[in-house]
Amino acid sequence: MTERSAQSDSELHVRQAFLSQAAYCDQLGSPFTATLCRTLGQGLERSSAIEEEIFAWRGDPGPHADSVPLRVAGALHYLVRAGRAAELAQLYPPHALPDPARLLAAARRLLREDAAFVHEFLRHPPQTNEIGRSAALIAGWLEIAARTRQPLHLFELGASAGLNLIAERYAYRFGEVSWIAARDGREGARAEPAALTLKCGWTGASPAVQAPLSVRSRRGCDRHPLNVADPAQRERLMAYVWADQTERLARLEAAIVAMRANSVSIVRADAADWIESVLPPSAQPGVTRVVFHSVFWSYLDRTSQERIAKCLTAVGATASGDAPLAWLRFELGTKDEPASLGLTLWPGGADERLARAHPHGAWVRWER
Ligand SMILES: C[S@@+](CC[C@H](N)C(=O)[O-])C[C@H]1O[C@@H](n2cnc3c(N)ncnc32)[C@H](O)[C@@H]1O
Repeated sequence: MTERSAQSDSELHVRQAFLSQAAYCDQLGSPFTATLCRTLGQGLERSSAIEEEIFAWRGDPGPHADSVPLRVAGALHYLVRAGRAAELAQLYPPHALPDPARLLAAARRLLREDAAFVHEFLRHPPQTNEIGRSAALIAGWLEIAARTRQPLHLFELGASAGLNLIAERYAYRFGEVSWIAARDGREGARAEPAALTLKCGWTGASPAVQAPLSVRSRRGCDRHPLNVADPAQRERLMAYVWADQTERLARLEAAIVAMRANSVSIVRADAADWIESVLPPSAQPGVTRVVFHSVFWSYLDRTSQERIAKCLTAVGATASGDAPLAWLRFELGTKDEPASLGLTLWPGGADERLARAHPHGAWVRWER
């Protein structure tokens, strides 16, 4: 292959990545980010060093790999939010969907003018922490608490900033059913009301809202944990939320405030290493250990998946009615399928699907 054809191949892949990302954004309710990605995919040119860098991406730029379009969209949104992009801000939400030609011109100008910042921003994979998933996860915690009638020790794999690890600090509307943690189910005294209310379209039997949910301890790990007490990390997390998804931005802001008030620290560790070292094989009686994760499994290689499954199966084999182990997972389906909430509860260890759900928890179809 000549250098020129390799160059045009990578340019084609990058343009295709922007167009595929635009289609996902359309499906997931972000017309603005869809327009931005489509516009950049069609209109970026190799006429500046930063655009050259984007087009020369080494590796797969697509939405299922390096997500170059979301890196670029994140960088632009960061600059808009920071007040460093006056021209582009005029075209960003809450303004109406912009004229693509103006959007392209303003975005390209900003990419060139702030090339050093963008270059640095592009180095990092996009990282989110979607609190909407708490709606599905809390329904899983309630289900586990209803079955075991014990307090929970929580262990989250791939926790990001840990915002789903404090899921019972939020209030919920599951269709017509409301839920908020009972005061005596909380750790310590808390005077303030729930940090935010998550609304979730619900079909099927109601979640186990009468269950005695009490969280005894919580721990989490991530390969790249985000610390929301650090303003730069906090802003980066906000920047990856699509600019027109104002409800997601608002609940992320509220969850960050709750997290800062609750000081849960997420350990920097590989999930397989971590769970092998922290999950006690001989458990404290009277407490249910819950290992859980959301939109995490597909990031692992086969070996890590096998190590985690093997660790949980081995510890599960030693579980008893008085010291159960639960493995709760909220993971994306294969193409065109919704996400699903799965549970394995030991003793017993049968796999169950509790629900199907929207990947951001906008709706849950309970199947039990
Ligand atoms: C898509 S994010 C989901 C974050 C969070 N669970 C949520 O639902 O919002 C996937 C997370 O998994 C983490 N991750 C990926 N591979 C990992 C590994 N081997 N060990 C620990 N964390 C990992 C990433 O750093 C990232 O924070």
